[in-house]
Amino acid sequence: MQILSGKEVAQHVYDTLTEEAEQFLEDFGYVPTLAVVLVGEDPASQSYVAGKKKACLSLGFGHKDYHLPADTSQEQLLDLIHQLNEDSSVHGILVQMPLPDGLDPDKVIQSISVEKDVDGFHPQSVGNLLIGNPGFVSCTPQGVMEILDYYHIATAGKHAVIVGRSNIVGKPMASLLVQKGRDATVTICHSKTKDLPSITRQADILIAAIGKPHFVTSDMVKEGTVVIDVGINRIEDASRKRGYRLVGDVDYDQVAPHCNAITPVPGGVGVMTIAMLMKNTMQAARQFAN
Ligand code: GUN
Repeated sequence: MQILSGKEVAQHVYDTLTEEAEQFLEDFGYVPTLAVVLVGEDPASQSYVAGKKKACLSLGFGHKDYHLPADTSQEQLLDLIHQLNEDSSVHGILVQMPLPDGLDPDKVIQSISVEKDVDGFHPQSVGNLLIGNPGFVSCTPQGVMEILDYYHIATAGKHAVIVGRSNIVGKPMASLLVQKGRDATVTICHSKTKDLPSITRQADILIAAIGKPHFVTSDMVKEGTVVIDVGINRIEDASRKRGYRLVGDVDYDQVAPHCNAITPVPGGVGVMTIAMLMKNTMQAARQFAN
């Protein structure tokens, strides 16, 4: 059983990006710059946003932080995004999700300029991916592909089963895997799927993106499968300093012995998301420069 270390793959991505950022600065006289907008005080969102800032700093990327109160109006948020769309010193814009109640995430995402949509959430970015002409691709599924590539896990002709149909992970994951050149046969399962274990047991590659701790158990996987765990769930643990620990959507201890390869949590897909955001920010800056 091989452990697919997102940490190792992310480090490889960061090494490449550090060099690219230095070269970019030399060529163009400025650095790729990401604007991160956080509305409200959600602790998990605050921690994600801090991780994004840290990544920018470590790569020598520019970083602009906007922390707005939870009672920010839709109009105020859209005004800020319009400003950032027009700001030539900003190449990528990210609005941290979920947004507080009262703000419409679809309208907010649609207001971000497609050229700066480093999250890949804009309907135009999603459509471009679906027709096989990707611009910016959602970071988490892109991170999964990067892990598969790094470990030379072929997808052609394989049956990839994705559990979860979110716009951020499940659906773009399916689009990526089914694309020409990737050539997987893809099944998407969700909460209304009947007899889920009978389908997940058919998977050569099983991707768990449900958001429920330890949801995938050993009776749901066939021997020798590749398991990709996208889940990042906080569960209470009084023995930890923070009072919680992170677990995936897969019951790792139960499932891992049956796998050919598996991603751990933490240190698997999670760390790839920010690495791919940085890659997209580099791409946005390049497109702006050219
Ligand atoms: N919330 C959870 N994951 C993400 C992400 O990848 N991007 C944004 N903007 N918000 C998120």
